[in-house]
Amino acid sequence: MTHTGRHFLQIPGPTNVPERVLLAMSHSTVDHRGPDFAEMGLEVLQGIRKAFRTSGPVVIFPSSGTGAAEAALVNTLSPGDRVLIFETGWFSHVAWRVVAEKLGLAVDYVPGTWRRGASPDTLEERLRADAGHAIKAVVIVHNETSTGVVSRIGDLRRAMNRTGHPALLIVDAISSLGSIDVRHDDWEIDVTVCGSQKGLMVPPGLGFNAVSEKALRAGKSARLPRAYWDWQEMLKSNTTGFFPYTPASNLLYGLREALRMMDEEGLDNILQRHTRHGDATRAAVGAWGLEMVPEDPAEQSNSLTAVMTPAGHSADQLRQVILDRFDMSLGTGLGKLAGKVFRIGHLGWFNDLMLAGTLSGVEMGLALAGIPHKPGGVLAAMTSLTASALKPEAAPLAR
Ligand SMILES: Cc1ncc(COP(=O)(O)O)c(C=O)c1O
Repeated sequence: MTHTGRHFLQIPGPTNVPERVLLAMSHSTVDHRGPDFAEMGLEVLQGIRKAFRTSGPVVIFPSSGTGAAEAALVNTLSPGDRVLIFETGWFSHVAWRVVAEKLGLAVDYVPGTWRRGASPDTLEERLRADAGHAIKAVVIVHNETSTGVVSRIGDLRRAMNRTGHPALLIVDAISSLGSIDVRHDDWEIDVTVCGSQKGLMVPPGLGFNAVSEKALRAGKSARLPRAYWDWQEMLKSNTTGFFPYTPASNLLYGLREALRMMDEEGLDNILQRHTRHGDATRAAVGAWGLEMVPEDPAEQSNSLTAVMTPAGHSADQLRQVILDRFDMSLGTGLGKLAGKVFRIGHLGWFNDLMLAGTLSGVEMGLALAGIPHKPGGVLAAMTSLTASALKPEAAPLAR
């Protein structure tokens, strides 16, 4: 089928890249050891701190998010170290458990249902039971992209602090940074891990580690082998705006533009925009009479919504109908949710009409694929968007 107009990329990352960022990346390749590069490098390395709400260093690798996860582990831990990883969904498994085990770490994988975030009570119990401080790090996926469930990092941090346990806190903010509040400093996170392709509105290819002083200190005695991922080499070069090896220079030009755009909109406004879009999407799903994966409304994601199709109805067939007929990509169900769940991405460079178009495609797709549902989801979303547009706190964005 021939498609006209724009493809709708509504997977929960990679996300739509703004024209301004695309244009910034179409910069001719520069000397990455020359003065123009250094100027851009310094702006990016300084500017990215705001997105993480940190005053400390953020290391930028030419990598995907999984590379940045590996970097967080190899820079802070030693072979055989015990790591507590909470099972939240597919990404706590593939990006963390599997990587940690391959690196020779001893993983305590705290079982989860994929419908709830990491439990602060369980974390507190586990740490209290570890009187000998064998656990060296706790890993939490903030926004589990496979389920749309958010773990409450502030509460988890407070639970850790109540125990006085010295384990590092490593947080995967790959699909939350720039769409759901992430507070690296306030939440005393030791390593916040991210990738460029979601809330940051840049194509895939950059991985990030925001690093606390405690994590840097841990790195002094950490014995996992590292060369490419070594923070120390990066931080030395970064002081002058450079990188120890050839950086992904064009992506960095794109990131500079994206950070400027984020500054213009304001981080709080960006988060509020994502809240409105999350609320409107949930209003649509509720009106369709379909079930969402998150069980606790306090843990619902504002960057994506994972929706279950009724038993006996394939979510993949629905996605196929929507792709063929409306040229829209939705996220697939991952791991044990394959075929049972579709995911609507509503993060990054996005607006009310893009959301209305997205939800229209889903509603028409539900009808065409013969999925039992009630009509009226799009109307419910529009009502939600209109109501929130009228609230003073959702007034025009500060510039
Ligand atoms: C929460 C989360 N963690 C880890 C990853 C892995 O990142 P990447 O695919 O960039 O390696 C993803 C990717 O979508 C993710 O959403």
